[in-house]
Amino acid sequence: MPTTRREFLQLSAAASGALCFGTLDRAFAQGSAVSSAEVPLRILILGGTGFIGPHQVRYALARGHTVTLFNRGRTNPHLFPEVEKLRGDRDGDLEALKGREWDAVIDNSASIPRWVRDSAQLLEDAVGQYLYISTLSVYQGFPEPGMDETAPVRTIDDPTIEEVTGRTYGALKALCEREAQRAFPGRATIVRPGLIVGPGDRTDRWTYWPVRIDRGSEVLAPGDPTDLVRYIDARDLAEWCVHMVERREPGVYNAVGPRSHLSIAGMLYGIRAITSVAVSFTWVNADFLAEHNVRPWSHMPAWLPPGDGNEGYGSISRTRAIEKGLSFRPLAVTAQDTLEWWKSLPEERWTRPRAGLSAEREAEVLAAWHARRVES
Ligand SMILES: NC(=O)c1ccc[n+]([C@@H]2O[C@H](COP(=O)([O-])OP(=O)(O)OC[C@H]3O[C@@H](n4cnc5c(N)ncnc54)[C@H](OP(=O)(O)O)[C@@H]3O)[C@@H](O)[C@H]2O)c1
Repeated sequence: MPTTRREFLQLSAAASGALCFGTLDRAFAQGSAVSSAEVPLRILILGGTGFIGPHQVRYALARGHTVTLFNRGRTNPHLFPEVEKLRGDRDGDLEALKGREWDAVIDNSASIPRWVRDSAQLLEDAVGQYLYISTLSVYQGFPEPGMDETAPVRTIDDPTIEEVTGRTYGALKALCEREAQRAFPGRATIVRPGLIVGPGDRTDRWTYWPVRIDRGSEVLAPGDPTDLVRYIDARDLAEWCVHMVERREPGVYNAVGPRSHLSIAGMLYGIRAITSVAVSFTWVNADFLAEHNVRPWSHMPAWLPPGDGNEGYGSISRTRAIEKGLSFRPLAVTAQDTLEWWKSLPEERWTRPRAGLSAEREAEVLAAWHARRVES
């Protein structure tokens, strides 16, 4: 039971956020204790209502901070009725941010350098710290195992390009990082997450695996069982971001998990442990998958075959972030919570997943694989 009015309010705020967001965050919905921060902060979140934002908001409120959101009011506007919401647009309408002060900004919503430049310049004298959510896609590639934050980042011939595509995304995010660092020298925190997963993920990528494995029977498993994977639970990321602004930690950090290197087999077997259905895995090699147009990442989420400069994909260093307190939920918790959240969605969402292989395609590819093995 909460013992003080402040603790009670923190739990209420956290629980109301969880209810608004569906059944996703069991830890918060059950009111599990989050200790108060030593110093309550005023935190501005640019964004806050998509995927990682709600987890950040919920955790910041639970820590006793005051949160302000800045967005257009289009994405999940029903969330967090108790939180101050400033309306505007990163693309040219920052009026609502003028004349205000915060201890820290968490910038989730920019992939265009001009957006970071405009908000960072506007806020540089009004805010203590600027935490920018970047991405591991800033790196030119992952040719070596164990690469750290000093690895070279992508560049772009024309830095005024603002169209965000698969080809420009990484280089534009690298330029965004530079804008934050320029406006907040010594006060910028650059966070480079890998694949972000867990309850609330609207891309359905990693979600594919717990959902597919929970359906049971023969599961197509990609590549070599020893291929390394990486991902981060959105809640681990969100909580760590809040801790990083509480401690005013500047720097550049890869934000990926799990703590130790994990193979695709380890991940799939770990997910299987949360289900009671009968499941078997059939490992199909990367060449065969490519021949049958089964793509890494979009069809087989979290998996990238080694080669083509991706040899170090799964082993990128997370040491720096771990030294600053990044911690990781067990795989089983992420898988279980993601599956429960998925099952809480309206049925029409189940029929049109946005990533992974359809049951029909999976059966076709498995049949072709078995036929090939019989012939050879
Ligand atoms: N998903 C992944 O696996 C992954 C991996 C690495 C990095 N990232 C990074 O994670 C960040 C996105 O996280 P998220 O979507 O979960 O964040 P979020 O803060 O939960 O959601 C995005 C927010 O941005 C707001 N927004 C969008 N366009 C806007 C505009 N023009 N002006 C003002 N606000 C705007 C949206 O609200 P309105 O629509 O109402 O404006 C929404 O609140 C991105 O920076 C992405 O590069 C993601």
